[in-house]
Amino acid sequence: MSNKAARNLFIFGSIFFFVIFLALTYDTMSQVEKRAPEITEGVNAGKMVWHKYDCIGCHTIFGNGSYFAPDMTKIVEKKPKGYLKQFLMDPKAVNPNASMPTLGISASEADEMITFLDWISKVDTNGWPPKPILAVASGVAGKELTPGEKVYRAQNCSGCHSISGIGGTSGPALNHVGSKREKTWLIGHFKDPKAFVPNSAMPPFGHLSEKDLNDLADYMVSLK
Ligand code: HEC
Ligand code: HEC
Repeated sequence: MSNKAARNLFIFGSIFFFVIFLALTYDTMSQVEKRAPEITEGVNAGKMVWHKYDCIGCHTIFGNGSYFAPDMTKIVEKKPKGYLKQFLMDPKAVNPNASMPTLGISASEADEMITFLDWISKVDTNGWPPKPILAVASGVAGKELTPGEKVYRAQNCSGCHSISGIGGTSGPALNHVGSKREKTWLIGHFKDPKAFVPNSAMPPFGHLSEKDLNDLADYMVSLK
């Protein structure tokens, strides 16, 4: 290669790759903009509450923090806000088995905290953290589900409850609920938990059809 050809290759090669670099930078920057919604006053206030009570001493956000307690990145998608508010203010009143201490969070601080966690949950994390694979809560996979089991799955009751050890621990285990509760109680409780258990943090399911509620109650009654 002559000197001139080498120089041209250097100059035009550099320009070529610089243009590609600019295009990719532009592309990345325009995506970053869309990855998180706007930060409001409420989000800021909630972040201050997060620091005040040192939540990160036990929890993680985006995987950063301590591994004593669950990650909070997508918690607002997993648990209804009414439940979260009650839990934050007094964990043991909601779930007697909770090991999170009562930190003295006020109602307004809880609201701010939830605004912050809601903002966090909307940040595009490319699907992280991966969703757990929820096994069929009742026994053998491949078995035909009863109508009640289908409603149980569709409503994600196992996010809070466990059956035979499978599911969450926010609410009581339902293994033997059929020996404890009757059908009328169950249906009434689904529609309006607070009317049956004062201060219940379970979200109401009154929006379900009578048939779904009935199927669900039949399923619960069968758990003995
Ligand atoms: C001393 C450790 C500790 C601190 C501090 C702490 N948590 Fe927790 N938190 C836990 C543990 C452990 C759990 C898992 C459930 C349980 O056993 O209580 C939990 C659960 C939660 C849950 C989920 C409840 C559910 O049912 O899914 C939320 C929401 C939560 N914490 C928010 C917070 C926030 C917000 C702060 C700061 C204001 C905070 N936590 C501070 C230990 C802690
Ligand atoms: C956000 C968490 C949460 C979700 C989701 C949830 N529950 Fe609950 N559930 C609770 C809590 C907390 C309690 C304890 C307070 C109470 O009894 O109301 C409870 C109580 C119950 C009880 C009474 C258990 C007993 O021993 O008295 C039944 C039955 C029940 N839930 C069934 C369901 C079903 C079925 C679904 C889905 C349609 C569901 N729950 C969804 C949190 C939840």
